[in-house]
Amino acid sequence: MTTTAPGTAPARSLPLFPLGSVADPAPERGVSCPGELPPASDPSLVERARAARAALGDRAFILGHHYQRDEVIQFADVTGDSFKLAREAAARPTAEYVVFCGVHFMAESADILTASHQRVVLPDLAAGCSMADMADIEQVEECWETLEDLGIAGDVIPVTYMNSSADIKAFTGRHGGTVCTSSNAGRAVRWALEQGSKVLFLPDQHLGRNTAVRDLGMDLSDCVVWDPHAPGGGLSGQALRSATMILWRGHCSVHGRFTADSVAEVRARIPGVTVLVHPECRHEVVLAADEIGSTEKIIKRITAAPSGSAWAIGTELNLVRRLAAQNPDKSVAFLDRTVCYCSTMNRIDLPHLVWALESLVAGTVVNQITVDPATAQQARAALDQMLALP
Ligand code: 13P
Ligand code: SF4
Repeated sequence: MTTTAPGTAPARSLPLFPLGSVADPAPERGVSCPGELPPASDPSLVERARAARAALGDRAFILGHHYQRDEVIQFADVTGDSFKLAREAAARPTAEYVVFCGVHFMAESADILTASHQRVVLPDLAAGCSMADMADIEQVEECWETLEDLGIAGDVIPVTYMNSSADIKAFTGRHGGTVCTSSNAGRAVRWALEQGSKVLFLPDQHLGRNTAVRDLGMDLSDCVVWDPHAPGGGLSGQALRSATMILWRGHCSVHGRFTADSVAEVRARIPGVTVLVHPECRHEVVLAADEIGSTEKIIKRITAAPSGSAWAIGTELNLVRRLAAQNPDKSVAFLDRTVCYCSTMNRIDLPHLVWALESLVAGTVVNQITVDPATAQQARAALDQMLALP
């Protein structure tokens, strides 16, 4: 699904934070190092990035996800959660290059949503997402066959989280479903249940469960979990027939580390604290928290909070640190001090950004992300359905 311009590979494939960071992708996406990556110690990196950015002008548009490092986010033309970034990518038909500072599935979605003359660049190809890697298309097709054999596939509408490969989005489009993000999952599942009587929710079981219970008022017993590594998903035909939500057994390796104990501990440590968590957290964490929201919502909530208020945030550390620095009149703490960065988001650093931008200035498109046209067409149907949600 992904191609790289000849001879232009990511220069570093080892995690930048081998200690205390989580969520390296399972498959190796990178190849060998061409030796062109500037050293992180180069004192002129910021200058070089500025000069390359200025030289590219309107030909390039840089998108930055909220989990990116400060050294990278300072060069983003737009920052956002995955929903906002997908919309922004679709809204820039004149930019020749869309440089995506985020992870692989986001860049794939940008390629699907942009015109064919636009090139999407991911500065380090090893920036994947462990959750997206937890559902591959063969496993999902196998699950669908089981539903067909049971005679219930016609009742099921697939809803896939943005954090999934283009293949999975194409599967969703083929079967009349929709993509969702953490900011519109409630609307997406509600829409799906108007089209059918069951939802196959891929690949984040926690977002699916939290959405079913919190947004749609379902009972936990309305949800079953399909285990792609167990025969028949580890579920009986009866369980699949009676479930409303069939949740894929995937999760985020970063958010999955927060626990209900993290919430109890922070409440004891910071009296009066409001606990705000991302919906990729486990259900018991969401139940114990006060509020829940996508990265964009978390930022808006903290920015609008009164001076002197105290917050504990359960999401990725780069974002929480930035929020703390930008809101010195409030107390902004990380929900659990043992949870760290998303290491794959962290792979995009200043040397990789400088390398990608300078290569574009020199006329070489490095680390281009392309989705084949047939897959892109079906995936686009599911993405368009998301963008059209009421
Ligand atoms: P948002 O859509 O809330 O930015 O989340 C994306 C993501 O990968 C969270 O782990
Ligand atoms: Fe994937 Fe989790 Fe990292 Fe988000 S934080 S990109 S879901 S591994």
